[in-house]
Amino acid sequence: MKGKKVLVGVTGGIAAYKAPELVRLLVKADFQVEVAMTESATWFVTPLTLETLSGNKVIARMFGGDETPMDHIRCGQDADLIIIAPATANIIGKMAHGIGDDFLSTCMLAATATTLICPAMNDRMFLNPAVQDNLNLLQERGFHVMAPGSGELACGTEGPGRLPDPADIFEQAQILLSERDLADLKILVTAGPTTEHIDPVRFISNRSSGKMGYALARAALRRGAEVVLVSGPTNMKPPPGIHFCPVQTAEEMKRKVFEHRSGCHVIIKAAAVSDYRPKEMARQKVKKGADSVSLHMVKNPDILALLGQTKKDHPCILVGFAAETENLLNNAQKKITAKNLDMIVANDVSRKDAGFQTDTNAVKIIYADGRVEDSPLMGKIDVAHLILDRARALKDKSF
Ligand code: PMT
Repeated sequence: MKGKKVLVGVTGGIAAYKAPELVRLLVKADFQVEVAMTESATWFVTPLTLETLSGNKVIARMFGGDETPMDHIRCGQDADLIIIAPATANIIGKMAHGIGDDFLSTCMLAATATTLICPAMNDRMFLNPAVQDNLNLLQERGFHVMAPGSGELACGTEGPGRLPDPADIFEQAQILLSERDLADLKILVTAGPTTEHIDPVRFISNRSSGKMGYALARAALRRGAEVVLVSGPTNMKPPPGIHFCPVQTAEEMKRKVFEHRSGCHVIIKAAAVSDYRPKEMARQKVKKGADSVSLHMVKNPDILALLGQTKKDHPCILVGFAAETENLLNNAQKKITAKNLDMIVANDVSRKDAGFQTDTNAVKIIYADGRVEDSPLMGKIDVAHLILDRARALKDKSF
């Protein structure tokens, strides 16, 4: 996505306060961002804020500002994507009916880029048949419309009309800009830790944040795959459009994985599953007593090994992860054979910049035929794309 051009059109609604966050996310992901605002939008958020965040001059007027004479033609044709967020009933009406009476609406008349419209307004206004007809018309003409969220609105009423979270708009932008080379695949990803309960208030778990697994799910979704994400408890928000299955224990994770494995072309087990669990969970909080206590632990099912054992009946590309603190290559290679995998992604979790909780990872991808590929240190989303590239290639070779 590096260098792709996005034009963000901001119109005059209270949700304009979320536009700076959207611009920040786009810039952070290396998009080149230009902002065009309507005059009313400048009452809600200042051009200076958006200029500072985007690193580019904001165009808010047709005449008399810093714009050049052809900006209203250039902006919408240069861009790879236009996002109108928030989109008021007014801009939606103008776009549907070909009205150009300010910079943004005139620019939209000449625009050729893929466009994402994010309506945000009072619920009655949103449900007004004229607005709905206009949105339908725009969708028929190929514009993408993101459904607003429902809930309490700035005007005090409840209903549909909230601008989606900037992170969700950003995700939708990524989907629209990505090559959909995984559109024919169903991919199941596991993420996060499992928690194994000792009593109602205590559990055994590990340091997995879910970042690696969620990055895989997000990357697969962007590239058009149908994605099932089975996740242990994390602080991460699953992206909209994913079939999300939250679980806590290894047993629950096993049930969900097996419930959804049918028809999967690729299964990637990035979760850090507890190998053992307390034999029994105490019904009440265990009281402090003796100076030392021991906990009787029993083995959890090895979900990945079970998937590997039954792969003949459910052919798929099976990808494991290995979190190792020593003998990375040897230990990971043993797992590939023991669990009947097509490839394993080994991360050295003793590093500070890789493995658990970090935003970056450096991995060794080991294949069943013995090949080993080293990745440089990269953001987890880039590592995710690399793993998906390799899984795609294995799938194309195998069946
Ligand atoms: O979540 P993050 O903070 O981003 O960190 C990412 C990560 C380090 C958790 C991840 O990249 C990773 O390495 N996950 C696997 C961790 C792990 O449990 O490794 P393992 O070597 O114990 O297990 C090997 C494989 O078997 C894994 O794919 C695991 O999901 C699977 N397994 C293990 C035990 C078990 N009972 N069932 C399993 O399916």
